[in-house]
Amino acid sequence: MGILISPSILNSDFADLRGELAKIAGADYVHVDVMDNHFVPNLTLGLPVVEAIRGASPLPLDAHLMIEQPDRWAPAYAEAGCASVTFHAEAAAAPVRLARELRAAGAKAGIALRPATAIEPYLDLLAEFDMVLLMTVEPGFGGQAFLDAMLPKISRTRQAVESAGLEVRVQVDGGISRETIGRAAEAGADVFVAGSAVYKADDADAEIQALRGLAEQ
Ligand code: DX5
Ligand code: ZN
Repeated sequence: MGILISPSILNSDFADLRGELAKIAGADYVHVDVMDNHFVPNLTLGLPVVEAIRGASPLPLDAHLMIEQPDRWAPAYAEAGCASVTFHAEAAAAPVRLARELRAAGAKAGIALRPATAIEPYLDLLAEFDMVLLMTVEPGFGGQAFLDAMLPKISRTRQAVESAGLEVRVQVDGGISRETIGRAAEAGADVFVAGSAVYKADDADAEIQALRGLAEQ
């Protein structure tokens, strides 16, 4: 399994989403941050906008649900055509049941952990998921500094995936840039979300390719 780059549109120009999506056509996924102002202190977008984005980008959508009650809401994102739906472990009442529902709806299922949430209680459940999202900042906002303290957690997760013989992706989200992506890749991440690094760059596509090159080293 190769490296995947998933630019986050969180810090893009929401008044011109079609244009902002066109800038990242050279990526592998579009990372869509859904926030409900309860699970995190910020409010972004929901299903109607996800449905609109789906029709406006040729790339598969990677939904990151930072919401309460994902058991109730996440399947609708799979039904709306998101290729991958990731919900937070801290918010889910029944993560295994929810992952199975997402897969039954045709999406890949991801489980996300805040920086302070340990991976260990979830290691025996890895086979139920296609991806583990390890937050490398506190979720809620773009533009924060990468937490180097998450590197050992990335390594432990990668080791657990390998030793179980699974094909589970390890995604990192938060503070990914040319400065940090190499460390995250070396620790074992293989899906990289980058928001401000891509959208603050003069040439978003060149930034995506530069990040890809650094992650592949
Ligand atoms: C933060 C979001 C991230 C965010 C990343 O809660 O989940 O996807 O957009 O932004 P950067 O890359 O700027 O840290
Ligand atoms: Zn995200």
